[in-house]
Amino acid sequence: MHTSKEHNNYFISKLEDRKDRGLLRFLVVAENKIDFSSNDYLGFSRCPELKQLPEELRHFGATGSRLITGNSSLAEETENIIARFHGFESSLIFNSGYAANLGLFSCIAGKDDSFIADEYIHASVIDGMRLSHAARYRFAHNDVNDLEKKIQQAKGRKIVAVESVYSMEGDEAPLTEIAEVCKSHNALLIVDEAHATGIKGMKGEGLVNMQGLNNDVFACVYTFGKALGLHGAAVAGNLILRDYLINFARSFIYSTALPPVVFLQVQKAYKLLPTALRSELNALVNYFRVACGKLEKLKFIESYSPIQGIIIGDNYKAKALSDHLFEKGYFAKAILSPTVPTGTERLRICIHTFNSREEIDGLLAETNSFLS
Ligand SMILES: Cc1ncc(COP(=O)(O)O)c(C=O)c1O
Repeated sequence: MHTSKEHNNYFISKLEDRKDRGLLRFLVVAENKIDFSSNDYLGFSRCPELKQLPEELRHFGATGSRLITGNSSLAEETENIIARFHGFESSLIFNSGYAANLGLFSCIAGKDDSFIADEYIHASVIDGMRLSHAARYRFAHNDVNDLEKKIQQAKGRKIVAVESVYSMEGDEAPLTEIAEVCKSHNALLIVDEAHATGIKGMKGEGLVNMQGLNNDVFACVYTFGKALGLHGAAVAGNLILRDYLINFARSFIYSTALPPVVFLQVQKAYKLLPTALRSELNALVNYFRVACGKLEKLKFIESYSPIQGIIIGDNYKAKALSDHLFEKGYFAKAILSPTVPTGTERLRICIHTFNSREEIDGLLAETNSFLS
């Protein structure tokens, strides 16, 4: 590899800077730890039914982009299943939620248009908006009045971006009010349902469908990498949107499609969703909330989803707590600023159907004693 001292120094100083601020990222192998970190809320990634797949399909790649050799009746059938499940006319599958948001947001607005996004919107949406060259406005988290104010300031076509369940807070967007404001200002509404897919609604169809808002949103993003325990994501909306994305979404056009086996797994996961253990999961979330409530020293975020957060308020302390828990056998990640606002650095705890009440008790006891 060719490099030079000057180039090396550039990379090293960037890394040193992150290290000095206590923000250095590194990979962790947490195979034998109790999982309070993954987004596998329903335990689908451990589900034997998703592993029973035709041997002949297991090892094959897609051989090209969907626009070249990567398309198949299996892919299109999967997209129809997903569209029907969530109550939309059509859907288009991307290789990941990141690729879906990047492709969608980068191509649906031009330089004369405006995005108005919740301040806590996921990085994949931010990156997509940046690539579009449209103007960007942020509104205060879940604040519908601020959203309306920003829509009024914005120019051109207006597109509003929210998550239905926020990935770092676990709280829900007030979707009905947001949809009303968007409608009254002729703004398109896009909802990232990454953390509601499989979790919210009677069958796991997400918050938009559960709240009867399909006709009020322009598009929803459903990811397969969270509660489905798989990989990939779908953008759902009307047929025009699908055709538009096939023509303009660069992360769809210029990337090898998912392998056939993933489409089969996604179909299987969608079959399993209606009977997934959502009420057991909700019971565990309640158990966690009640147990947390008894620990006076702990300040936890108001959330009714499997994503829970204990506010620590300091990057180093949050990391030290996460490291301590790791040593004790629990894997719960510290979320640092600037990923979350300064002062709200936290321990992010994901509750899964496979976690036991004893594990929750153990995790909280360790956390409480560390913070005492
Ligand atoms: C809200 C949200 N949207 C999109 C993504 C990206 O999804 P994926 O992991 O499938 O790329 C994530 C994952 O972190 C997320 O939390």
